[in-house]
Amino acid sequence: MLNLNKLASNNFLSSIDITKKELIDILELSKNIKNKKLELDFKNKVLGLIFDKASTRTRVSFQVAMSRLGGTTIDLNPITSQIGRGEPIKDTARVLSRYCDVLAIRTFNQSDLEEYAKWSTIPIINALTDLEHPCQALADFMTIKEEFNDFEDVVLTFIGDGNNVANSLILSGALLGLEVRIACPKGYEPNSLVINKAYKIYKNKNLLKITDDLNAAVSGANVLYTDVWSSMGEEIEKNDKDKKFNGFTIDKNLVNKANKNAIIMHCLPAYRDKEISDEVMESKQSRIFTQSENRLHVQQALLAVLLGNKT
Ligand code: CP
Ligand code: NVA
Repeated sequence: MLNLNKLASNNFLSSIDITKKELIDILELSKNIKNKKLELDFKNKVLGLIFDKASTRTRVSFQVAMSRLGGTTIDLNPITSQIGRGEPIKDTARVLSRYCDVLAIRTFNQSDLEEYAKWSTIPIINALTDLEHPCQALADFMTIKEEFNDFEDVVLTFIGDGNNVANSLILSGALLGLEVRIACPKGYEPNSLVINKAYKIYKNKNLLKITDDLNAAVSGANVLYTDVWSSMGEEIEKNDKDKKFNGFTIDKNLVNKANKNAIIMHCLPAYRDKEISDEVMESKQSRIFTQSENRLHVQQALLAVLLGNKT
């Protein structure tokens, strides 16, 4: 059985909590898991899920991932646990560390996630915050690798809101050194700290471009990726953002301006005919449901490397 290399970091709070090598190793491990080339045994290991926001893919894929590893999951609903009552994170984190082996947390503020990591003695995984969605980026780059075999010469264009998903694509993209273009309306650029971190990682600074010029961003792209214009927690801005993002829909007309071999990606859930047309979602170029499936494989790999060496 494969000897798993433990991660240098105990946590996966950000896409750049891992090195380029660790990222490539996780993608390789994910491929072997998907192809059923290895079996991992984490019997009796317990994953705790704390989700302050809704989730279908992340919640279910983590539960199934843990089950396939031989372990179990406890879904800690903040409403029915004392978390919703406002018990301090430092208390919850210390208690859960004595019951569980790893926690996956979906919440609003990255600082709350960091507070969990500070007080926990077990690995903490970012299952989405307002700032980042690093598990999603793992699945996305697995999907891109399946399509193009390598990242060299791949141009990934994200069209839409410079949000958590875009931020993690930028950071993982910087680690892998592929060209990432973000096309968004002015004022909706990705987080400036994230952009600065990415520029520090990129050897060639020209490989990251933030623009409101949609046509320039799409020209020659191999991957067209989008996400909702208004993320969870931004419901109040929805009408305003719908107007500001008008023209940023991935539709057939836009797809025709990209590279002939371009694939279409969306982390889901989608609003059809807002950020992406129904026709494009259902088109042959769409890899959206493979991308969703890959959440399961990368998260098994991630759990395995965080839970430690097993032979
Ligand atoms: N892509 C993603 O994280 O989906 P969920 O919100 O359903 O988990
Ligand atoms: N940006 C979206 C991603 C959902 C998976 C959100 O945060 O709601």
